[in-house]
Amino acid sequence: MSEFKTSILCIGAGYVGGPTMAVIAKNCPDIKVTVSDINQTRIDAWNSDELPIYEPGLDEVVREARGRNLFFTTDIDGEIPKSDIIFVSVNTPTKTFGRGAGKAADLQFWEKVARNIKDHAVKDTIVVEKSTLPVRTAEAISRILHSGPSDVHFEVLSNPEFLAEGTAVHDLENPDRVLIGGGEDERGQAAIQALVEVYAAWVPREQILTTNVWSAELSKLTANAFLAQRISSINAISALCEATEADVDEVARAIGSDSRIGPKFLRSSVGFGGSCFKKDILNLVYLCEHYGLDEVAAYWEQVVHMNEYQMSRFVEKVVTGSFNTIVGKRLALFGFAFKANTGDTRESPAITVTRRLLNERASVVITDPKAIPEAKHDLADVIDQVEFCEDPYEAAVGAHAICVMTEWDLYKDLDYQRIFDSMMKPASIYDGRNILDHAALAEIGFNVYPIGKRALVNE
Ligand code: UDX
Ligand code: UDX
Repeated sequence: MSEFKTSILCIGAGYVGGPTMAVIAKNCPDIKVTVSDINQTRIDAWNSDELPIYEPGLDEVVREARGRNLFFTTDIDGEIPKSDIIFVSVNTPTKTFGRGAGKAADLQFWEKVARNIKDHAVKDTIVVEKSTLPVRTAEAISRILHSGPSDVHFEVLSNPEFLAEGTAVHDLENPDRVLIGGGEDERGQAAIQALVEVYAAWVPREQILTTNVWSAELSKLTANAFLAQRISSINAISALCEATEADVDEVARAIGSDSRIGPKFLRSSVGFGGSCFKKDILNLVYLCEHYGLDEVAAYWEQVVHMNEYQMSRFVEKVVTGSFNTIVGKRLALFGFAFKANTGDTRESPAITVTRRLLNERASVVITDPKAIPEAKHDLADVIDQVEFCEDPYEAAVGAHAICVMTEWDLYKDLDYQRIFDSMMKPASIYDGRNILDHAALAEIGFNVYPIGKRALVNE
């Protein structure tokens, strides 16, 4: 007889599965939480002092629960029969082939996992979609789980995760809401309740929303589409600000203080990145096209187009500001992660910008406090054309320009006089995140090119 009241298994020990399960284990000492993955290296890292992902506060949470009621393993088949609730958090990348290539979600891992659960489960089990999935996937999953002869019953719930990287532990500990979608019959409602009880250990019940399964699935895609849309909207306005005398931060503050609009996600930037926004919007677009809603599809697709336009505009600005040629010029990229406080570079605007700068035959040097290993991986095919350097001061030596790609705090506090003195002249800064003190930089002698604001050009 197990000492635990419930056993949870999570399949997929990535950015979502790992932190989510660690926080559940920390807050529910009476639940056994096992996190599994097919990737042995990843599991070994979760069992070591060097966790496979960087998240502020995660080390402490894992240290508290690991070995007590939090376990990491590759023995997925062995854990399935022992589990009451199985979360599935495997990746669902955009399809690169066949029908829906470039837009639809590739569900092959999910289907494989579902078949695996069916083959090994020995008792009624709740299967929870943690990965972001196209609407109505739960139906297909349920059919797979119940195919063939078996007495085991599965309830499929959708419990999308809204954590943002870099603040994952904080977001999991203090979620705005937890969303659980499930079947409307008695069994579905009982499964929803079972999952509500898990989260209720630390989340106020009024913040645990329950819906039907389709609403939960669609809410996740919609939330990401709305968030990304705000960034594309302010980035669209940043182009107009640059063409006029307006300042995008002033506009953002002015509109953000309207309580109907609110201040968040109005930071103009070189563009949004991350594993979710583009993928989920394209997924939404594909879904709309599938249902013949072409205008709706085009509306959302424009959010992605605007993001690409913003990255192109940035590179354009660098070339124009460099007397229309960057051939052989050393350009230092400050930051490569898609946002601060993470080593994750998936869909980072820095990847697109680096490749375009290389196309113009610039000599690119990349610095980042956490993401250099990932950057090397992303740029493997052009690695001989790029230099990597931990120290931003060193990266800037002999450079014609600095491009701020990630809003790391450390870039705000550097000694820019020292940096200026070590650079080629004229020395320029293209602040793709609007985090630096532009007036002070111009005072030192830099030519400063922010986003959505007038450039400050000395020479
Ligand atoms: C993933 C999805 O990409 C995202 O859409 C969803 O919202 C949450 O899950 P993330 O955790 O960031 O996000 O993905 P990733 O870090 O790639 O982790 C997925 C893990 O699943 C990997 O470690 C991979 O090895 C594992 N996996 C994949 C399996 O264990 N089995 C498989 O069959 C496929
Ligand atoms: C996002 C959602 O926020 C989260 O709810 C969901 O679960 C996963 O996708 P994440 O991608 O981790 O999270 O980070 P987020 O903070 O949303 O940033 C995404 C991108 O937008 C980053 O590149 C960030 O730099 C950029 N961004 C964000 C802006 O350019 N401006 C802003 O105002 C906010």
